[in-house]
This record gives sequence, structure tokens and C-alpha cells, in this order.
Amino acid sequence: MADPASQRVLLTGGSSGVGFEAAKVLSAQGHQLTIVCRNPATADQTRSLLPDSVHTLICDLADLAAVATICSQLVDRGTALDALVLNAGLQYAGASEAQFSVQGIELTFAVNQLAHQLMAMRLLPLLRKAASPRVVITASEVHNPSSGAGKVGKPADLGDLEGLRAGAGFAMVNGSPGFDGNKAYKDSKLCNVLMARELNRQLEGALPVIAWSPGLVITRNSGGFFRYNKRSNPLGMGAFAFVARDLLRITESPENAGRLLAQLVCDPKIAPGFNYFTNKVVSFGGHRLEPTDTSAEGADLQKARELWQLSEQLISLT
Ligand SMILES: NC(=O)c1ccc[n+]([C@@H]2O[C@H](COP(=O)([O-])OP(=O)(O)OC[C@H]3O[C@@H](n4cnc5c(N)ncnc54)[C@H](OP(=O)(O)O)[C@@H]3O)[C@@H](O)[C@H]2O)c1
Repeated sequence: MADPASQRVLLTGGSSGVGFEAAKVLSAQGHQLTIVCRNPATADQTRSLLPDSVHTLICDLADLAAVATICSQLVDRGTALDALVLNAGLQYAGASEAQFSVQGIELTFAVNQLAHQLMAMRLLPLLRKAASPRVVITASEVHNPSSGAGKVGKPADLGDLEGLRAGAGFAMVNGSPGFDGNKAYKDSKLCNVLMARELNRQLEGALPVIAWSPGLVITRNSGGFFRYNKRSNPLGMGAFAFVARDLLRITESPENAGRLLAQLVCDPKIAPGFNYFTNKVVSFGGHRLEPTDTSAEGADLQKARELWQLSEQLISLT
């Protein structure tokens, strides 16, 4: 294992929420952190709040060309990577109309899944250069239709990947008509779990490939992960946050979730191979990170392989 005090870490989604809190911990521990930020403004803002040792790269993950560009820059630079942390994500909760990237890919799938698969594909040579590398992917329990959160609304279900098979322009991965922003998010998190499965197969279990669920993470301010929610007004979101966080106490803080992500990046005890952890509610207001089974669909290795291959085709065509 490389010196645990100086892991070289590349992190997406480090400008806010769970990723930003993880960045605070990792940079304070002396790791060499590079954060992929959407634009120069978020990059400047992020760096201004973290130690000088933290670097940023500008990349809108919705744009595959931009993702390919930063990957080429990193590969040309040739610095080994100890940890690739694919954490960025968005949800268009309540949306009934899909939005598309410049390459014509539905944005939830483009950002949460496709950009991250492209990074994993292109950056593998840098991981292979490290003594003891790992990949960490922030998924979610909503990928699992039998989990509490996965039961709310339409469940995650990729069908036979009919939408993806048809090429760019699909709204839902399973090809179902119309668009459901909540289901698209659950589907993307199921894709994240399958991406981890397939990466692990390709790497023949040589390194830890860790998917995890941070729990329901709610910030104290009005921003945070639910800022794209089309259905709720700020008052409705405030009421939801108050009930979930302060009455039911089923939410996790960004700070704790960030500490867990930092732990997953560095913990030498995590075994090589596929791992899935969930930050479970265990008592009134308490959480515990535990190894957990994925959904049956999230364990479908054939689907994982097809999802990867069809995504690869989509990447090469756009
Ligand atoms: N919050 C929850 O309850 C929850 C539950 C389960 C799983 N998760 C997962 O946890 C991860 C982190 O979410 P969070 O709660 O920390 O939410 P967040 O505060 O909204 O953070 C999301 C991060 O992703 C980045 N991002 C989004 N779209 C991007 C794009 N096109 N290009 C570059 N960066 C982009 C954001 O950058 P900007 O700052 O530029 O927007 C931000 O840094 C996500 O993968 C999410 O699916 C969250």
C-alpha cells in the first residue's frame, strides 16, 4: 500500500455536500487531492475554502468531450492515482421532461453514470501505476426497490436497457415512454452499482471497487442535493427537511457522510474486489456504515457487462 499519509486522490463532486466535506478531511490528512469542478467559479470557490495543496480541474461532467479532455490531460501528465472517487451526482426530482447534454444524453444518466464510466475507462492506466489503488463510487440505497427509499415512487429498473440500446436521445434507460426524474435518478444509481460490478470483473478483483450509499443527506441551508427539485417550493422542502432531520432523525449530516467517504478512500482494511456499503439508520438519530447486499438487479453481472458495453458504444459515437 502507498503511504497512507499521501494518497493521490481524484474526486468528482467535491465542490459541495458529501464530496466537499470529504475533501476537507482528505486535504487536512495530507492527501494530494484534485477536485473536478463544473466551472472556474466553483473551482475558485472550492479552492478558497480548502488548503492550498488542493488542485482543481474544470469540467462540466455533462459534456463527454470535456470529460475526455481532462482525462487526456491527466494521462499525459502520467501521475499515478491511488484513488478515483466518482461522487458527483444530481437528481431532477419531480421533473417530467428530460433535459439533454450537448451530446444528446439525458442529463441524469450523462452526469451520474456516463461521465464516470468514461473517467474509469480512461484513467485505469493511472490507477494501474499505483501500488494499491482503489475506486470509490457514490451510489445510493434508492437503487434497491426493497429498501425504504427505493420503494417511494417508481422503483429502479433498467429493463433490457432498451433506451440505451436505441442510442443517444433516450429519456429513460429502459426505454419507457415519457420522463420521470425520480426514477431516472434511481436508475442512475443502479447503473453506478452495476458499473462497480463490471469494473471489478474487468480488474479481476485485483483492487477494491467500492460502491456506497451515504444515506439521506440534508444540509442546513436551502442548497444541497435537493436544489434541482422541480415539484417542491422552498417551504415544502424546508418542512420535509425539518420532519426527516429534526423529528424522525433519519437523515445524515454532510459532515458525517463526508467523513465516511474519506474513510472509504483510505481504509486499508477494505478488501480487494466488489464492496457495497450502506450508511444505515440504526437507532434514533444514529447511523452505521455496513457491508450490504445490493438489489438482485444490482448483482446481475450480465446486465453490468451490457450496460458498460452499450455505454462505451454511446461514448464512442458522440
Ligand atoms: N444527498 C443525499 O441524500 C444522497 C443520498 C444518496 C446518494 N447521494 C449521492 O451522493 C453524491 C453527492 O451528493 P450530495 O448530496 O453531496 O449533493 P450535492 O451537494 O448536490 O453535490 C453534488 C456534486 O456534484 C457536482 N455536479 C453535479 N453536476 C455536475 C456537472 N455537470 N459537472 C460537474 N460537477 C457536477 C456538484 O457540483 P456543483 O457544486 O457545481 O453543482 C456537486 O459538487 C451524489 O452522487 C448523490 O447521488 C446523495
